[in-house]
Amino acid sequence: MLSVSLPRLKERLLGLARFGALPGGGVTRPCWSPQHEAARAWLLGECKTAGLATWVDPAGNVFGALGADRLSTAAPTVLTGSHVDTVPEGGILDGALGVMAGLECLQAIREGTARPARPLAVAAWSDEEGRYGSLFGSRAFCGRLDAAAIPTMAAVDGERLVDAMSRAGFDAFRAPEAAAPRDSVAAYVELHIEQGARLEEAGIPIGVVESIVGVRRARVVFHGQADHAGTTPMERRRDAFLAAADYALKARELVVSRGGARAVTNVGVVQVHPGASNIVPGRAELVHEMRDPDPAVLERLARECDALARDVGRARDITVEVRPMSATTPAPCAPRVQAAIEAACASLGLAAQRLYSAAGHDAQNLAGVTDSGMIFIPSRGGRSHRVDEMSDWDAIERGANVLLHSLLRLAA
Ligand code: GLV
Ligand code: MN
Ligand code: MN
Repeated sequence: MLSVSLPRLKERLLGLARFGALPGGGVTRPCWSPQHEAARAWLLGECKTAGLATWVDPAGNVFGALGADRLSTAAPTVLTGSHVDTVPEGGILDGALGVMAGLECLQAIREGTARPARPLAVAAWSDEEGRYGSLFGSRAFCGRLDAAAIPTMAAVDGERLVDAMSRAGFDAFRAPEAAAPRDSVAAYVELHIEQGARLEEAGIPIGVVESIVGVRRARVVFHGQADHAGTTPMERRRDAFLAAADYALKARELVVSRGGARAVTNVGVVQVHPGASNIVPGRAELVHEMRDPDPAVLERLARECDALARDVGRARDITVEVRPMSATTPAPCAPRVQAAIEAACASLGLAAQRLYSAAGHDAQNLAGVTDSGMIFIPSRGGRSHRVDEMSDWDAIERGANVLLHSLLRLAA
């Protein structure tokens, strides 16, 4: 039975991990950064070495293909992939695994005797981690990019998308041209680490994703009054940070009590202005993220949090602005792709468990244009979005082989 080469896959995963490597382990490789662009160039070289046709689309998505040199409606391609950008101080597998394993699968197929009926391609989607909104590259590819928003899209550090892309040699205004030709993708299947502890705790090697959570992010801005932090009496202060802190605590309670059983929420970015110990904060901004698998619940939570922010502001004499940043749609995975993954697991003698994804993934955009699904492997200790994110090498090999045989089934 055809199988992947773990030594080659391991060498590539560790090769990719050099770009943006941190001294204490892990990696910081945000999309469009010099580290990311060096990784992109290296990836194109690896695809060519593997004998694949390569191209990069106007949204910066990198493709390596077998049996075609572009996507076409005449011969729809079975796609796999993930992303090579990372969160700040992230791990070496989130995204990287799906791209490197996809590449390995295509190389193994090219070198083997199987002759799939359909072309196959691996994609590295741009900015999955959402420096500029969520899932940027796959959104463009799936025709979901709002062209009118491009001029104002900016990262939390203020850098505009047009500048970041231009530095990397891309024209942001052309990103919508990355939209795939209609019906040119026959199916999409992505291998990813679970990023949680369910598979490890159940002792199950493979997860078959049934659905992917929706994520909403909003920037909430609290406008108070800057004042001298020594001379202003406490009762006269309009402290923007305290309003932000009050909101963060109450929003957590609201999402936990009013969301579904799987609702979660996070405030991972807080900025206080002007930002000096002897000035009462005049302005505070935070990025509030919430997730729920049910789009209606997510919509209601967003409305309730907006109202909460205004209530908190009113009680503290603080003006509040809520600026929606991104909203991804929860997506079911296609039964046909789940069945292909389960058949691949059965043929490899591997137990599999269906589960839902609490992390966002490019597969949820692909679900809008084709049958889309995902394979999860256990994450050690459920750790992810941290430098010590890791999975066992034999778990990686198993996952890559499940991807290989899922792709062969989908392309048969
Ligand atoms: C993707 O990493 C996410 O934030 O869910
Ligand atoms: Mn991630
Ligand atoms: Mn990821």
